[in-house]
Amino acid sequence: MINMSDSKKLIYAGKAKDVYKTAKKDEVLVIFRDDITAGDGDKKDNLKGKGECNSLISSKLFEVLEENGVKTQYINLIETGSMLSKKLDMIPLEVIARNIATGSLLKRFPFEENQKLDPPIIQMDYKNDEFHDPMLNDEITIALGLATQEELDEIRKITLKINEVLSNFLKEKEILLVDFKLEFGKDSEGNIVLGDEVSPDTCRYWDIHTLETLDKDSFRQGQDNVMDIYKQVCNMIVDEKDLERWDSND
Ligand code: TMP
Ligand code: ASP
Repeated sequence: MINMSDSKKLIYAGKAKDVYKTAKKDEVLVIFRDDITAGDGDKKDNLKGKGECNSLISSKLFEVLEENGVKTQYINLIETGSMLSKKLDMIPLEVIARNIATGSLLKRFPFEENQKLDPPIIQMDYKNDEFHDPMLNDEITIALGLATQEELDEIRKITLKINEVLSNFLKEKEILLVDFKLEFGKDSEGNIVLGDEVSPDTCRYWDIHTLETLDKDSFRQGQDNVMDIYKQVCNMIVDEKDLERWDSND
């Protein structure tokens, strides 16, 4: 078992996850914390069990993506909350795919609320809290040295594939994938690989029948049942069999 109490091994602390070194130089351990934030961290809370829920959901969705030929950083969920992952050199982009017009898109552009977006919109924001994650275009991204045109084309292609795979998988679970944010990095061979997480913190999931929110919008809107929603969506996405399989990893 990897000793998490050795703080010297901490490589990076994000708003909701910590990344630790492991004995292998090309692997890291991602720990999902219970912290939840919104509005660049202005609104904060700590919800017991949220980290565990997100680690289970992310592991399951990374596995589904890998089964469908998408490269991810995921290696294994070694215990609930702790994901063994490939070490990536992260690209500071927030790659957002949108199937339905909602959220910040409505504040910035005259789309109709809940308008279907087909083909989906892919938007790239600069992951930079100081500048409040501004929206990019390819020229700005390239001029800032964040990625090359070839890398941007590849990221768009992978994002569309991820949208297709996850939309189909979640539909079977009676969840509508409204939009989501991805982060990519490069592995030691220079391949573009999906990193970070794919969870209710980073996606909009709606109940396919009622269109009710099943994600972090519940927290952004100040609802008092956020953890109930995270547990519900975790039960919808992760099967008993997945839990048994991960349990037997210990
Ligand atoms: P937005 O409509 O607020 O721009 O959000 C688009 C998607 O990106 C939504 O699924 C939530 C996700 N997201 C993040 O993961 N992190 C963020 O900081 C923001 C603002 C949105
Ligand atoms: N992720 C951002 C924050 O934690 C904003 C958001 O998700 O709404 O502050």
